[in-house]
Amino acid sequence: MTPTCRICETAMEPFMSFGKMPIANGFLTPEDFATEYFFELKPGFCENCSTLQILEQPDPERMFHENYAFFSRTSKRMAIHFQSYADWVKENYLTSTNPFVVEIGSNDGLMMEFFAKDNIRHLGVEPSANVAEKARSYGVETLCSFFNLETAEKIVSEKGSADALIAANVMCHIPDLHGVAKGADHLLTPDGVLIFEEPYLGDMIENTAYDQIYDEHVFIFSARSVQNIFDRYDFELVDVKPQSTHGGSMRYVLARKGKWPVSPAVETQLLYEDKKGLHLKTTYEIFRDKCEESRTNLVNILQQQKDVGRRIVGYAATSKSTTVLNYCNIGPDLIEFISDTTPIKQGKFSPGVHIPVRSYETLRDGYPDGFLLFAWNHKAEIMEKESSFTQAGGEWISYVPHVEIIRK
Ligand code: TYD
Repeated sequence: MTPTCRICETAMEPFMSFGKMPIANGFLTPEDFATEYFFELKPGFCENCSTLQILEQPDPERMFHENYAFFSRTSKRMAIHFQSYADWVKENYLTSTNPFVVEIGSNDGLMMEFFAKDNIRHLGVEPSANVAEKARSYGVETLCSFFNLETAEKIVSEKGSADALIAANVMCHIPDLHGVAKGADHLLTPDGVLIFEEPYLGDMIENTAYDQIYDEHVFIFSARSVQNIFDRYDFELVDVKPQSTHGGSMRYVLARKGKWPVSPAVETQLLYEDKKGLHLKTTYEIFRDKCEESRTNLVNILQQQKDVGRRIVGYAATSKSTTVLNYCNIGPDLIEFISDTTPIKQGKFSPGVHIPVRSYETLRDGYPDGFLLFAWNHKAEIMEKESSFTQAGGEWISYVPHVEIIRK
């Protein structure tokens, strides 16, 4: 059966395949190797509504469950970022008396806590039970659920309408955006706003950051696609704000048509996207060629390091690393282990290629000759933290925006 666009149902073809992929956050133990789940990771671009999406996606229950391995509180800079995001929402959109804010995919409550601390009425909606429970321990009121019309009805009947529905790095995870739009329409007051920020398609293309594509990221948005998607539900894009997080993200503000003035930044962004050809099929064919080139260069560098007997360790077992490792077929022969600060990943093996994941403290037993930087989006924070390694001659292999070795 020909796949169709999740937004407008136009028939779609993939522009490339990354091959068989496991669940990006599916860190596992050897007894689960034999039954590991794989699907084909192939992105397509809908020329009708300008939406980039993956054509096959595992069931959400396989990805978001009681053992979900991603916790927001793993990066200090992200904590600072979420505080400023929360402050900006408060200042600009929570100006009514006794406002109410809801977050979709509130994870361990990192952002909601900044509202809770100010005694602002809030509710986090989070489908993974383990992270939802963590959020509650920080005083964040949390409903363990996916966000859709039914959830919105429940919230409105119990707590009333919301002034702002916010999200960060979540909307691109939701295959049924129609359900989210209907839920937003039901939940929000007439002047209410829907605000979310996600990895930005323009940056992904510009930097050949193909590792943004993995099972959880069903969409990679642009301003044009966000406008097209929500136009169907009578929402309009009223503002866009580029963000440096996650290697280049965009914050989108949507409101019911005519309710809020439209910032000139929206038109500027749409013009930028047209100039970059984000609406053209050929842009994605060029991107595919660049991914292949990146793969060849990365594998060559790692092989050269191995040939001269250098020890390379992966830095951070990110979701993104699953795409890189499996697409490039990089296993424990090239990467000794991956160091990661998330306890639930430690002592397990990386999805698909089964590289051991060890705690950050393991490095005290001996630093490697080089790190392969999987968390390239946290480069500044990590370089600061690891400056003595680099000063002592340690090397970093990076593949975004291109494959290179970074030395002091
Ligand atoms: P992130 O880029 O947010 O991940 P993803 O691709 O999954 O969205 O990075 C989060 C992961 O990186 C998490 O497993 C913790 C790990 N990490 C470290 O191990 N050390 C660090 O210094 C940082 C910033 C992250």
